[in-house]
Amino acid sequence: MYPLLRPLLFKLRPETSHDLVMNTLGLVSKSKQLTSLCAMLVGAKSQSRPAPTQSVQAMGITFPNPVGLAAGLDKQANACNALHKMGFGWLELGTVTPLPQPGNPKPRMFRLPEHQALINRLGFNSVGLTRFVNNLARADPEIIIGINIGKNAATPLNNAIEDYLIGLRGVYAQADYVAINVSSPNTRDLRNLQQHQALNQLLYALNLERQKLTDSTGKHVPLVVKIAPDLDRRQIDGIAAILRRNRIDGVAATNTTLARRSVEQHPLAHEVGGLSGPPLDDAATATVAALYQNLQGEIPIIGIGGIDSAQAALEKFQAGAKLVQIYTGFIYQGPRLIKAVLDALAPAAGK
Ligand SMILES: Cc1cc2nc3c(=O)[nH]c(=O)nc-3n(C[C@H](O)[C@H](O)[C@H](O)COP(=O)(O)O)c2cc1C
Repeated sequence: MYPLLRPLLFKLRPETSHDLVMNTLGLVSKSKQLTSLCAMLVGAKSQSRPAPTQSVQAMGITFPNPVGLAAGLDKQANACNALHKMGFGWLELGTVTPLPQPGNPKPRMFRLPEHQALINRLGFNSVGLTRFVNNLARADPEIIIGINIGKNAATPLNNAIEDYLIGLRGVYAQADYVAINVSSPNTRDLRNLQQHQALNQLLYALNLERQKLTDSTGKHVPLVVKIAPDLDRRQIDGIAAILRRNRIDGVAATNTTLARRSVEQHPLAHEVGGLSGPPLDDAATATVAALYQNLQGEIPIIGIGGIDSAQAALEKFQAGAKLVQIYTGFIYQGPRLIKAVLDALAPAAGK
């Protein structure tokens, strides 16, 4: 069904079709029957009960399968039940900011179909924590949920830690893990938080807060740091050392790229923002490989960026990823991509 729907959706502007689909999936998510019907219509029904061999243990969590939805598709936590039925092993929601904010002016999302790629400069359009948490209360509690937190655009960078602490406290009760986004290219200077001292201070503060939350709730929520693909080896090694020192539970690599080498002839290549999809694949896989060489499995890696086939997913695992996530490939191919990856992994997953 998705191959039939896609040409219609691609006639609309990218963000219009995104909003239309997400609003529909949001309505569908309110009813169990509609959720199952929708999954059947898009051809995802057969994946809703994954084989036990596909489950993966990481960060103290049992992921029903190793293919997750990457952050940014469901920023409002509105469509969890329907998205989960598409076959994802888990969902990473957000990025959510403490206060609601509109993000950057439109247009701010662009398709590069020749490359099966997207450029976006959404800039954390967010419903804010209160509404996000209310929406998430409607999700099936069995779904494994990562929640990706960020800072408001109006918060100066030197007060950023406070925004992340508010985010951590706000989502703690509902999260299976919390992802700390220091790698979106669309919030001014956010990526500076990947620099040595800034990252160390941020993670130190989040760890202290997590300890307090663990003590008061009895629940220990793993912390994951999401990094950019535009880092050199020295920077990656520096980040790995800080993750170790702060006993961070996982690392997600990568966010979108500012590089345009692989699409430089495209008429939309000049659009400001983060590029995702296959043109990002090599840089993302190289980042995963560099992290793995350093971390040697000590901290699990979520491999993200340009996965558009089972082979591309296998390459992320071969580079050292324990889990993978998909965003742009899902926009271009729909749920059949998840199924293709899971079918190819069936004998190997979970090892
Ligand atoms: C339109 C769009 C919005 C995104 N928003 C977020 C976000 O809010 N937070 C985040 O951590 N990553 C965000 N991402 C990055 C994705 O989670 C992912 O890291 C990146 O797109 C690479 O994966 P892909 O090539 O499979 O899309 C966004 C990506 C796209 C295309």
